[in-house]
Amino acid sequence: MSTPPIPTRTELLETALAAAHRAADIIVAARRDRAFTVSAKNSADNLVTTTDIAAEQAICATIRARFPHHRFLAEESAPTVTPADLHEPLWIVDPIDGTTNFIYGQTHVAVSIACALAGEVQVGVVHAPFLSDTYAAVRGGGATRNGHPIHAAATTALDHSLIATGFPYGTGGRAPLVRRLGAVLERCRDVRRFGAAAIDVCMVAAGTLDGYYEDVHPWDIAAGGLIAREAGAVTGHIHPRPERAPLPSDLDGTNFIVAAPGIFNDLRGLLAGAF
Ligand code: IPD
Repeated sequence: MSTPPIPTRTELLETALAAAHRAADIIVAARRDRAFTVSAKNSADNLVTTTDIAAEQAICATIRARFPHHRFLAEESAPTVTPADLHEPLWIVDPIDGTTNFIYGQTHVAVSIACALAGEVQVGVVHAPFLSDTYAAVRGGGATRNGHPIHAAATTALDHSLIATGFPYGTGGRAPLVRRLGAVLERCRDVRRFGAAAIDVCMVAAGTLDGYYEDVHPWDIAAGGLIAREAGAVTGHIHPRPERAPLPSDLDGTNFIVAAPGIFNDLRGLLAGAF
């Protein structure tokens, strides 16, 4: 059997956009018709809806129709990867980033889709239907919001920076994060907590935030991370990654940080010292 050809980045981007819009139609209709039910995943605060599942199925079906051999790392149906998966074209999917926002009728809700080859993200799309924002990037090709190029902020001072973050589900692990938050509040202009990591990362890309940090999953940051890098922001990790980290850097949401280039090192130093 011959190996299928590696698709072009343009083909990957078109597919990601088509899948994101199909999922968004499902999300918007479910909210309009109040047609979803909610259940708890691994903790009482980590919620999933029937819309998360339906949107993820639509995304995966759209991608599979075009690329039947590609693999998935998807929040609801395929949340783990094997080393073998990383050697194949891999789609990283969050059907609803901001599930709690979706349930509460808030607007910060996004579909996040990335495609990685050999562990490097090649295309990323973050589509926020209630904000009418579609962020997209192709590796080496710049980043856009609604088709217009975006650029990270020119901020160079932490005390003039607006920083977003988030917190894990369940109250158990939050105390050290509150100490870290205190350090940011003492040093930076202010803090935001919007509730959808993919949008936070894209806001850093667009210069409407100066930085964002949180411990998150690959599907929260794979697409947004590329969009941010392509917009001139810097992505990385608050603490050095272990030599044999299970995931490549582009997919590793542990200790994730993204910031405007002029404050990245200072913000990382502040966060590392405050935990
Ligand atoms: C969550 C959101 C939230 C962040 C959480 C994520 P989900 O994603 O991105 O902003 O603080 O850490 O898990 O569960 O809504 O897809």
